[in-house]
This record gives sequence, C-alpha cells and structure tokens, in this order.
Amino acid sequence: MLKFKNPERIATLETPFWYYDMDLFRRTVDAMVEASRKYGITVHYSIKANTEKRLVEIIKDRGIGIDCVSGNEVKWSIVNGVEPAGIVFAGVGKSDAEIVYAMKVGIGSFNCESLEELEIIESLAAKEGMRANVSLRINPEVDAKTHKFITTGLEMDKFGIPRRFIQKAIDILRKCPHLTFKGLHFHIGSQITDVENVFANECRSAKAIIDIFEQEGIMVENVDLGGGLGIDYHNPDSHAIPEFDLWFRTLRENLPLRLGQHLHVEPGRSVVGQCVSLISRVILVKEGEKKNFVILDTGMNDLLRPALYGAYHKIENLDGKGRELRLYDIAGPICESADVLAEDRVLPETRRGDLIAIRSTGAYGSVMSSSYNMRTPAYSVFSD
Ligand SMILES: Cc1ncc(COP(=O)(O)O)c(C=O)c1O
Repeated sequence: MLKFKNPERIATLETPFWYYDMDLFRRTVDAMVEASRKYGITVHYSIKANTEKRLVEIIKDRGIGIDCVSGNEVKWSIVNGVEPAGIVFAGVGKSDAEIVYAMKVGIGSFNCESLEELEIIESLAAKEGMRANVSLRINPEVDAKTHKFITTGLEMDKFGIPRRFIQKAIDILRKCPHLTFKGLHFHIGSQITDVENVFANECRSAKAIIDIFEQEGIMVENVDLGGGLGIDYHNPDSHAIPEFDLWFRTLRENLPLRLGQHLHVEPGRSVVGQCVSLISRVILVKEGEKKNFVILDTGMNDLLRPALYGAYHKIENLDGKGRELRLYDIAGPICESADVLAEDRVLPETRRGDLIAIRSTGAYGSVMSSSYNMRTPAYSVFSD
C-alpha cells in the first residue's frame, strides 16, 4: 500500500495529482548507476518516459546521458544542463529543423532509422558545412515477448533499418563525407520481463550484425542495446527497484565486446515507473446493470495506458482500511467507453471522497496526458 511521507499535507491537496516518491527515485537511479559502473555500461535515460524537470536534473547530476526522440526533447535536456555529447537522438521521422538543431548543438549521435534518413542527414550536414555523428538503428528481428504496441524489433514494425538493407547502408556510409559512423543501435520493445532469454536473443542478433560491419572493415565503436527492462506492475512495493544488475549482467555475458567497443543502454520505464502514483478522489460509486463503477476524478486524459494498451496498474483505496471487499470497475469521467482504468478489481467497499492511488504511473503517464474534455491535467507533487 502506498505510504505518503507527509499524509496530513496530502489530505489537504486538490486531486488529481502525480505523487513523486523522490526518495525511491534517487535509490533507483543509484542502483542503476552502481550496476552500470560494475558492468562498464553507459546509460542514456529515455526521456520520453517522463520529462519532469526535477527528475532530469537528478539524472544530469549523476552524469547520465539522455535518449531523445524529438528536437524538443533534445532542447529540454540541454536547457536542464545535460551535456550534448551524452545525447542520442532516435525516431523514424526527424524533421530537417530537428536534425539541423541537433547537429549544431553537437549531440553524441543520431540513431538513424532508414537509408532515406541517412541521405537526408548527409545533405543537411553538407549544406551546413558540418559533420554529423550517426549510428544505425538496425531492426534485429527479435521478439520482445511483450505487448504488440510496445514491440519494436520485428519485421512488421516501422522502426529501424531492415536487416536486408545493411549492405546498402554500408554503401551509403562510404559515400557520405559528412557523416561520422559511431556505431549500431537496437531497441526491441518495452516492459520486457523475460530478461535473461529476451535480452540474450537481442545480444545474439546484435553480434551477428556487428560482425557484418566489421567484416566490411567498418569498426563499430558503440553498441547501443536500447531500453526495455520491465517493472512489476502487480507488486510495486515488493519490487520497487527493477533488476538492473540482472539486465546488465545478461547483456555483458551475451555480447562479447572487442577492445575499444562500448556498450550503451537507454532505459526509460525502469528508471521512473515505480516512483510515481496518480492520486485521485472518488466522485461517486455508481451501481450499473451488470457492474459497479467507481468513478474517479482522473481518467484516460491523465493516464492513457489502460485505454491505449489495456495496461495493468495496481489500484489502492487508501481510505478503505477494515472495510469489506467488493468487486468494481474503476472508471474516469471522460466521455469515452475506453475510459476505464481497471476492470473487475477487488477493493475495500469504496465511498464518495475516498483517496485512491493508481500505482506505477511514472513512465508513459504524465507525458501522454491531454486536456481532452477540457479537463485540467493532474499536477506534480513531490514527496520532499
Ligand atoms: C529507441 C528507444 N530507446 C529506449 C526506449 C525506452 O524503453 P523503456 O522505457 O522500455 O526502457 C524506447 C521506448 O519506447 C525507445 O523507443
């Protein structure tokens, strides 16, 4: 059950809000940094998961780089003091303005996702009289065994350069004088829980692809294996800190590196997921024809994941201690049938005004929110 550091103060606040457990966030980042040092891995936090300024500042202070997917994410990272050289920039559709901006500020590498993009970056770099650092995101054709919408490394997915175009990519690199080849990039998907098997498969595929480049005499300096480490949405308290050590050990054991080759990763969800809960009050409890609905003052406008992916979040009634258990659907106030945050959940008998915690909402929560139905978005509250 979620415990607030300052419950009296929390009870006076307007809902809904995102409650940031800053102590847990710091402990999570410390655990990740410690494991990354142990295994010699460079981390770029995937800022798309959560762009909150206070988190970015802590990440920056620990010397962690950033993985971006838009020009504004690059800008936001730099505004918050991140070193441009530690920024990598992926995405299947970077606009010319985004590319030129990122090139001018001197990011570490563009993670290029198509042959077409390579040629665009070459022509923009030539026009600006600059050189651009590029890595190639290759689609490794590895099944992440996760939700269809967060799988990115299969033949059907729009991400990365298809394996069959590797030779073409090498030919393009050879005739692009304004591109500096930095390495290879892979990202197979998110919320991966079968860590040892799935990431070992990714490593095997990456190794075969690295070999193709090196046999062609092209040295692969950086190998970026993306993000994807899953979190325990069912047990956020007993598994508050994800298994960074297991993840990094799996990568090191399954991907032999040559001297001078560096391993990089881009975790998002695992860094921030467990550190935030969405706090809401019950507007009313409605008896339906077939179900009983707890109607909250937050919904898919704040937390889209259940409607978008059918994602599971643990839901707790923080005022329900000692009451009998009942079965409910937990829904929001938005005028969409998809605005159901959880179906068939057992909660203590729930009443109007009860405080509800929706757990593990730090990743892909606030960043995906909208003001649909002209609702005021949830604001941020920090435990410290
Ligand atoms: C290229 C890339 N890297 C890293 C990530 C972060 O993944 P996760 O949040 O699962 O760690 C994503 C997420 O979609 C991504 O697209």
